[in-house]
Amino acid sequence: MTTQQFFTLSNGNKIPAVAIVGTGTAWYKSEETDATFSQDLVNIVKETLDTVPGVVHLDAAEIYRTYPELGAALKDTKKPREEIFITDKYSTLLQLSENPTVALESSLKKLGVDYVDLYLIHSPIIDKNGTIDIETAWKHLEALYKSGKAKNIGVSNFTVEDLEKLLAVAEIKPQVNQIEFSPFLQNQTPGIVEFSQKNNILLEAYSPLGPLQKRPADSDKIGFYSYIAELTKKYSKSEAQVILLWVYKRGILPVTTSSKIERVQQAQDIFSFDLTDEEVKKITQLGLEQPALRLYWADVYTKYNSEAQK
Ligand SMILES: NC(=O)c1ccc[n+]([C@@H]2O[C@H](COP(=O)([O-])OP(=O)(O)OC[C@H]3O[C@@H](n4cnc5c(N)ncnc54)[C@H](OP(=O)(O)O)[C@@H]3O)[C@@H](O)[C@H]2O)c1
Repeated sequence: MTTQQFFTLSNGNKIPAVAIVGTGTAWYKSEETDATFSQDLVNIVKETLDTVPGVVHLDAAEIYRTYPELGAALKDTKKPREEIFITDKYSTLLQLSENPTVALESSLKKLGVDYVDLYLIHSPIIDKNGTIDIETAWKHLEALYKSGKAKNIGVSNFTVEDLEKLLAVAEIKPQVNQIEFSPFLQNQTPGIVEFSQKNNILLEAYSPLGPLQKRPADSDKIGFYSYIAELTKKYSKSEAQVILLWVYKRGILPVTTSSKIERVQQAQDIFSFDLTDEEVKKITQLGLEQPALRLYWADVYTKYNSEAQK
């Protein structure tokens, strides 16, 4: 039997503690046209909604250009809207819409829904040719939150400094900060995990399976991989499940994806076993012994690599 866990956000709302279908990364497209439409993505989302029990958490964004696929799957499913948790993001590095209000109006239409469960500012780094700043964008998110079109609001890829600036002007505090986090990247930017957690901003971890995505040829000689293998045998779970549960046990919400339905189903099923505190600590330590592995936003954050594994 699958048991499901939720985190409670600073506003008291619940959020399913793992996002099982991210629609960026492997699914990302640089154009949203009929020619680039991915039936594979429709199929995996549809199968997920139809077969995975509980509330299904999906991760979307304006910049992924995958709303048509997500919309097609949502239209087709019998899973009730209240059992689907949709995260969406306003694109800032490349400003695709005039402001978040215009962007969300358009994504709601493409997704065929009346609200999203979580709306994020995708990054603190803004388009050099853009017309909006972060403070103005945040005002839009606050208004969307008050209108009920975004049930929760937050940010992504924000540093401590970015959060401090935002907290100084925000009427409504960001409830979430989605960052890259894995055993091989335990602080995307200096002090971000401790600061977010102290300020009751829930962290989400994208690319939590970095160590599996970029497994070195000699991984059998690396303590981290042998220890994960030991735990997979002890609990009869996959490597991915052990790592995703470790993220959760660190108080962080993993955001994963897969093109294989079994892996998506396994991601929802990580709460059917438990890791001891010692095991969580050991994964943390063995992960920290490895050099920083940064898969996204490397051009802006690689300068922090020496502080990323602390
Ligand atoms: N906010 C941001 O700036 C930002 C940046 C990046 C990502 N994201 C979000 O986070 C989501 C997840 O990111 P991610 O794809 O990097 O997550 P991830 O969970 O680290 O990696 C998922 C990838 O790993 C592969 N995988 C799964 N299990 C595996 C295993 N046991 N061994 C080897 N490979 C395995 C999957 O391939 P298969 O298809 O073969 O299973 C899939 O392509 C994205 O889709 C996006 O929604 C957000």
